[in-house]
Amino acid sequence: MNRIAVLTGAGVSAESGLGTYRDNGGLWDNYDPMEVASAEGWARNPGKVLEFYNMQRRHLREVQPNQAHRLIAELEKKYRVDVITQNVDNLHERAGSTHVVHLHGEVTKVRPENSCNDFDGFSEKLVFDVGYDPVVLGDKAPNGAQLRPHIVFFGEAVPKMEQAIDLVSRADMVIIVGTSLSVYPAASLYRYARGEAPIWLIDPKPVSLHDPRIRQLQTVATEGMKELCEKL
Ligand code: OAD
Repeated sequence: MNRIAVLTGAGVSAESGLGTYRDNGGLWDNYDPMEVASAEGWARNPGKVLEFYNMQRRHLREVQPNQAHRLIAELEKKYRVDVITQNVDNLHERAGSTHVVHLHGEVTKVRPENSCNDFDGFSEKLVFDVGYDPVVLGDKAPNGAQLRPHIVFFGEAVPKMEQAIDLVSRADMVIIVGTSLSVYPAASLYRYARGEAPIWLIDPKPVSLHDPRIRQLQTVATEGMKELCEKL
C-alpha cells in the first residue's frame, strides 16, 4: 500500500473544541447557513457574513490540533497521504500534514469579492492570508474590491472537486473521519475509490452507506484513528 486519501469533516476537529455544523447545538442550530454562508447571504448582508467568519477565526486562534490530526499527519512517515477536507480550519496543517486540499476554502484567507470562484490558476494569486485578523466592510483588496472570505459559499461551485476525485481514485485506502456526508458534491467523493480499496469510516454516530467496502469504527476521531493506525 502506498497512497491513502483521508476525507475529513467537522468531526475531526470536534475534540479540539471547534463545533460541528449539524450535531445538536452545532453551528447551524445557532446560525442560518443561508444568511452567513451563502452567495445570496453575501449579496444581501456582507457585514453579517464577515462577522461570522471573524468569529470562526477568533475560535480557531484559540484551539490546537488534536491526536486525530496528529495521527493523520504521522501516516506520512509511511505513506503518501492526501487529506481532502471539508473543513475551513487549518488544524491539519498545524498538525503537520503537508498535502491538504480544502474543498470548501480556508477561513484564514480572503480574496476580492469580484474574483471568480475558480480559486485555482490565475485567481489563486488574488487570495491572501489574513491569519486570525478580522475583516470588515471597507477592507479592500489591491484591485479596490471589497474583501470576502475565501470560502465556498452555498450556491457556489466547488473548484477543487476534480483534483479531489483524482486523488481518491488513485488511493489504495480511503479513510473518512467526522463528516455527516450530507453536503454534495463532497459527500460523493468516496464513491470514486478503486474497487479493491478498503474504506474506513470513523464517526461516533452509526452511518449506513450501502457500500460493502465500508467498515465503520463507531467512535470519536482520536480513538478511531488510534485503532486504525494500530491495524496498519
Ligand atoms: P457535520 O456537522 O454535518 O457532521 C459532523 C459529523 O462529525 C457527524 O457525522 C458527527 O457524528 C461527527 N462527529 C461529531 N463529533 C465527532 C468526533 N469527536 N469524532 C468524529 N466524528 C465526530 O459536518 P460536515 O460533514 O463537515 O460547509 O459538514 C459539511 C459541510 O457542511 C461543511 O464543510 C460546511 C457545512 O455547511 C460550508 O460551510 C461550505
